[in-house]
Amino acid sequence: MMSFLFTLVISFGLCILCASAELQRFAHSSKHDGSLSFLVLGDWGRRGAYNQSQVAFQMGKVGEKLDVDFVVSTGDNFYDNGLTSEHDNAFEESFTKIYTAKSLQKQWYSVLGNHDYRGDAEAQLSPVLREIDSRWLCLRSFIVDSELVEIFFVDTTPFVDDYFTEPQEHKYDWRGIGPQKPYITSLLKDLELALRGSTAKWKIVVGHHAIRSVGHHGDTQQLINQLLPILQANNIDFYVNGHDHCLEHISDTESPIEFLTSGAGSKAWRGDIKQMNRKGLNFFYDGQGFMSVKLTHTDATIEFYDVFGNVIHRLTSSKLLRSSM
Ligand SMILES: *[C@@H]1O[C@H](CO)[C@@H](O)[C@H](O)[C@H]1NC(C)=O
Ligand SMILES: [Zn+2]
Repeated sequence: MMSFLFTLVISFGLCILCASAELQRFAHSSKHDGSLSFLVLGDWGRRGAYNQSQVAFQMGKVGEKLDVDFVVSTGDNFYDNGLTSEHDNAFEESFTKIYTAKSLQKQWYSVLGNHDYRGDAEAQLSPVLREIDSRWLCLRSFIVDSELVEIFFVDTTPFVDDYFTEPQEHKYDWRGIGPQKPYITSLLKDLELALRGSTAKWKIVVGHHAIRSVGHHGDTQQLINQLLPILQANNIDFYVNGHDHCLEHISDTESPIEFLTSGAGSKAWRGDIKQMNRKGLNFFYDGQGFMSVKLTHTDATIEFYDVFGNVIHRLTSSKLLRSSM
């Protein structure tokens, strides 16, 4: 009897361990004046084609002006099908040799997109890439913590049921994920715990897929059902994503969350927009470009840029007063 109980306790303990693990956390200090700035880019790796190089050039200029602390990638890092291995030269051809400006020689924090899962997904997570280019850091889900802001990176591809049930001609690399449901349940649990414990002034969540978008792919229903309620309950300021090859800004109609899409790093100009008259839609641009974020203890300034480096939309948000242009 004793040994039976003992076994029960052990296996219960183990079960807690395997069902939940703390998200890996990276400290990134803010500037001496207490501010922090970074660029956000998505859907980019095409060996410079489709104006990827032009966008990179403008990022370099804006990066210098804002003295950015790091760069965030919202995924779909390498087209068409991620990397074939750690030694795929697409890594250098689409990343190292493209983002060459001095201001971009900072840490990059990346998540995986659905296209990245169509290759060797684990290759992008590998430390071997960091030996080739030390700027690179890509994990499935993790946290960047600067005290002023906590940025929660979430692996959104496994949320999308169609990739499992109707993969069509695509093959997804689900190694390291295991069955879909327990993976998502445990990820959401870890995220919720981290969000609840966060004391940062600003809370930003980054994923590849949009929660709300009027672009080609539109909303991601599984994220609306499963992720959004957790973000709404935990005072998230911004949800940032790629996937749709556009730039957009949509205000949540049920909470102060602003949805920001930066997925215009290379191929764009799809020209298809759904629901032009959607409530909360502040800005949509279907061309190439990127986004910048500048944070202080009281204010956030977010700007969207086109391929010429023009600011085409600005959003300012204050901890006392929210407004948008
Ligand atoms: C590159 O950008 C220019 C200027 O906006 C645009 O006219 C052109 O179509 C773009 N080229 C590609 C291949 O997307
Ligand atoms: Zn995508």
